[in-house]
Amino acid sequence: MSAMAQSRKPWEHAKSGGSEADPLAQRFVESLSYDTRLYKHDIAGSIAHARMLQHVGLITQKDLAAIERGLGEIEAEIDAQGERWGGWLVELEDVHMCIEAALIKKIGEPGKKLHTGRSRNDQVATDLLLWCSQSIMELTGRLEQLNQAFIDLADRDGRVVMPSYTHLQRAQPVVVGGELLAWVNAFDRCATRLSAFWDDGAIHDVYALGSGAIAGSSLPLDRRYTQSMLLIGVPPSEGMTTEQYLKEVGLPAELSEYINTLPDAPAANAIDSTASRDVAVDFAYGLSMTAMWLSRWAEQWIIYMTAEFGFLSLGDAYTTGSSMMPQKRNPDMLELIRGRCGGVYGHLVALLTMCKGITIGYNRDLQEDKRHVFAAYDTVKDCLDMATRIVKSAKFNEQRITQSLDRGFLDATSLAEHLVTKGVAFRTAHQYVGALVNHCIEQGIVKLADLTVEQMKQIAGCDAVGDDVYEWLGPENVVKRYQTDGNAGLTGFEQQLAEWKERLESSHQANEPSSHPEAAGGLFGDDVSGDASASLIVAYEQQKRTLDDLPYTDQFEAIIAALGTDDRYGTFHRLHNLRKAGQLPKVGKAWEKPPVITAEQEELLAQLVIEAVGSLSKRDQLPYAPPFDEVIQKFNAQADLQFTPHQVWRVVAKLAK
Ligand code: ARG
Repeated sequence: MSAMAQSRKPWEHAKSGGSEADPLAQRFVESLSYDTRLYKHDIAGSIAHARMLQHVGLITQKDLAAIERGLGEIEAEIDAQGERWGGWLVELEDVHMCIEAALIKKIGEPGKKLHTGRSRNDQVATDLLLWCSQSIMELTGRLEQLNQAFIDLADRDGRVVMPSYTHLQRAQPVVVGGELLAWVNAFDRCATRLSAFWDDGAIHDVYALGSGAIAGSSLPLDRRYTQSMLLIGVPPSEGMTTEQYLKEVGLPAELSEYINTLPDAPAANAIDSTASRDVAVDFAYGLSMTAMWLSRWAEQWIIYMTAEFGFLSLGDAYTTGSSMMPQKRNPDMLELIRGRCGGVYGHLVALLTMCKGITIGYNRDLQEDKRHVFAAYDTVKDCLDMATRIVKSAKFNEQRITQSLDRGFLDATSLAEHLVTKGVAFRTAHQYVGALVNHCIEQGIVKLADLTVEQMKQIAGCDAVGDDVYEWLGPENVVKRYQTDGNAGLTGFEQQLAEWKERLESSHQANEPSSHPEAAGGLFGDDVSGDASASLIVAYEQQKRTLDDLPYTDQFEAIIAALGTDDRYGTFHRLHNLRKAGQLPKVGKAWEKPPVITAEQEELLAQLVIEAVGSLSKRDQLPYAPPFDEVIQKFNAQADLQFTPHQVWRVVAKLAK
């Protein structure tokens, strides 16, 4: 008999001893100190795996019942006891082994069958994928709250005229809200970027469960079944039709289309799916971009809070005093948001470097992924929460901002544009105005509007200055004159504000953050059936007609019927928002090409759309709204055509591309 003890790890039968023999080795190899937060995802994966094992006949119904009961109890215990749960044994290395050991202890023999055809390698890849999906929903929800705070602030203080800055030098006048909505656009993109995760079925490609350690298994595992269980909690149609099955378990029949589109092989290659951490790196990149935008915003507001600017004040809870200087109000929370961005980038670089140069197949290096993903996520989540509160507490100081407007010749560009309207070439106008600004600086004149028309003509050497020039001077006038789409003056601001308000409202209605069937359903998460967006997505997918080609078709009517609503405008809008949020699955090309019309007819239609909604980019407000009926009627009358609403819409969609 060997004097050496057997390893205490249940999976180390070929070794005489384990890492527990050396405390440093034990501490070095464990991930339990940071991976316990995967316990729900791990249990969800185990239940899906066990159901599949029963389905293919590798375990009995009785085994499955015991496993489900045992795992259910373990989950409830951990829910209640958290880190104090007695099953966390560091010598077992990680969350996966602790839960499995606890299951075996609890239910005996059936518990020993759970790991059939499975490895920690496919297990951890799947757990992390589930965890990332859930975390992305948390983040997109938070990004939406932050944007709501910006929009509320813009609605209150947004019409104040302020200077804008390029190179942090005074540029042109804008309104406060124009700048606030710039942040809203950026953070909205962050949400889209994070949810790109679900686009194009990418999620299917990385579902590792059933890949085993690296090679797959010689046992008849049905990976499609496991995946379907995990994603939406129901098996693919087997023996009975999916519809029958759904009826039996009380889920909406619309889900069947969705289930039937699941690929047969969830992850195409067992080696790739256990070796890759693309999901973690992509997620960390999305987090890094979010942190980057938070840091830019924080810096901007730190500057606005200086005595030199005095544009902005924050709630006292979000500034700190100095231990020495009694008068201080420091924007520490903003500085920390700015400062923490570096840490998030660090985690991204750490992940990329961790993956660099390791051989294909699992290597223990990959265990480190979770440290970085979790830490980056925690940081960004906290920063988003803090940012939302800061924005809610913020007040723009109209008086200080207005007092500052005289400095910096903010209206110089406007004056040059005035000259352009009088026929002067822009380069020449630029030169004239440059001379005027120079003159003012030399003479100590602060405002261009303090010059007379005669002086302007004489100093610039240009007769084109009109008597109406003063309507183009002064920041208050200038912000009213911008007319381009997306401008940061008054018209652009009001238009964008209205759009954002409507968008956020319909997204609240659609309850978007938890709306994706893959993330919301299944063993992990809430029941799909109660979720408005999930059924909308399912109904949309069922019709297989892409959004741009959908309005005014039988397929759109079928969606309306499936939802049991008659809100066509709202339904189209929600679909549009889901697409913007990257949550609408791709369902192939358009069925019908836009009809070919002349350039003049195109011009006419574009003009009518602009009259109706302001710009072609706002076309999505048209379908099923009264202004569109008017567009259609006018277009057909003036172009002498008899286009159906669908045909008109197809041309509009084409023009906007
Ligand atoms: N805790 C480990 C991880 O997070 C589990 C994988 C261990 N796999 C192995 N082949 N040793 O990656």
